[in-house]
Amino acid sequence: AKDKVEETSELEWGLLPPEEFSQVNGIILQKKTCDSWEKIWNFQAKPDDLLIASYPKAGTTWTQEIVDLIQNDGDIEKSRRASIQLRHPFLEWIRMTHCGIDHANAMPSPRTLKTHLPVQLLPPSFWKENCKIIYVARNAKDNLVSYYHFQRMNKALPDPGSWDEYFETFLAGNVVWGSWFDHVKGWWKKKDSHPILYLFYEDMMQDPKREIRKIMEFLGKNLKEEILDKIVYNTSFDVMKKNPMTNYINEIKMNHHLSPFLRKGVVGDWKNQFTEAQNKQFNEYHEKNMADTSLSFCMGL
Ligand code: A3P
Repeated sequence: AKDKVEETSELEWGLLPPEEFSQVNGIILQKKTCDSWEKIWNFQAKPDDLLIASYPKAGTTWTQEIVDLIQNDGDIEKSRRASIQLRHPFLEWIRMTHCGIDHANAMPSPRTLKTHLPVQLLPPSFWKENCKIIYVARNAKDNLVSYYHFQRMNKALPDPGSWDEYFETFLAGNVVWGSWFDHVKGWWKKKDSHPILYLFYEDMMQDPKREIRKIMEFLGKNLKEEILDKIVYNTSFDVMKKNPMTNYINEIKMNHHLSPFLRKGVVGDWKNQFTEAQNKQFNEYHEKNMADTSLSFCMGL
């Protein structure tokens, strides 16, 4: 069934109570998640589960929609059966009193699930059952800018404060789901010992069809060229922005007037936000913190 599409007025949004946060092993998460942590940690994955993992704002929704269309052989009607939040349970997220894992447990297999958990907090059953995982990463600078605007518009996350304040908060890793650096490096390392397809937002922007084909092969599907072209079109920024099943317009905690969920969808937007001094500081921090990995990113230069 299609869920109701509703938009909150500015006033209603302003009156929504702020969400509370706490920590699990030093990682900031929703307080409700922390309170239910034992249950989440003990989640039982199944061998045919597919997990889409990412740091917030790396291109999760885009990847989800591509995966769903591949699984449905490019059938748009099937992919518009429900909003993306309902099609793919968000493991650790608790919306009102409803936990993503309850939603997952009630779902028939094969299931596609979503998480933003850092690798060390993923429920161990995913490793034990050898589940396929797709991880999507985005360069730190654009990821930071996107996260800042998302926190401005989303009452389910902390108020980011000013841009200058948030810049420091992000670099210190004091954001929900923890440090970007630890997240992307942790998942990168894990792919040596587990079936993880590690994707980059910048590659998806450069050649979406190539990346969609990679996902298709990883999922063991074989779709015709014309279906792939249809998926490229239907997962383009402009189409997804207009699609109420992918644009989060039905989320009452989001104020799309402040900043739309599908905001810009480009590589290199950080250049419009960073000051020269911030860029210098960020580059130094980035270099220091990425010295111990073979992982590298295109910053849209
Ligand atoms: P911007 O804020 O830079 O525009 P997530 O789904 O992980 O929350 O990521 C959201 C980011 O991905 C937003 O970035 C959003 O615009 C971008 N995005 C979503 N769908 C996209 C698409 N089809 N093409 C390009 N970017 C997309």
